[in-house]
Amino acid sequence: MRAGNVLMVCLGNICRSPLAHGIFEHLLNDKRVLVDSAGTANYHSGASPDPRSIATAKAHGIDISHQKARQFGRADFDAFDYIYVMDKENLRNVHALATTTAEKNKVRLLLETEEVEDPYYGGPEGFEIVYKKIHTACQKILEEWNRL
Ligand code: 4NP
Repeated sequence: MRAGNVLMVCLGNICRSPLAHGIFEHLLNDKRVLVDSAGTANYHSGASPDPRSIATAKAHGIDISHQKARQFGRADFDAFDYIYVMDKENLRNVHALATTTAEKNKVRLLLETEEVEDPYYGGPEGFEIVYKKIHTACQKILEEWNRL
């Protein structure tokens, strides 16, 4: 797998994908590669990440407090080489916006066969679980790129 621009996608772009965005950017540490995140919904557009995501990232030495939520759009298929979604609902919603096979093929579940479950309605421990799952998946991608 070759290095390319990466977009992390969840539903609201305030809990899971901001963590994925921050973790991937931190591990990659290469400004030439575009890393971003977006939500399939627009409920939280313009909002900062959930305070629990900010705190979890901070506990691991990653600052995601400057991020702002935005909605996924068709232009993202051009801007990004890899579109990683957190769950199967995200996969359906992003696939529904794809118009070519090439666009569809850019989209995959971050955990390949598993979902990063939405921690929004649970306690803070859910965010740590999400962090660990995402961190492991990001490391795996970067190992495949030979960048870790
Ligand atoms: P996220 O979590 O998709 O990981 O950002 C959610 C955030 C907000 C809502 C749902 C999921 N919400 O329904 O407002």
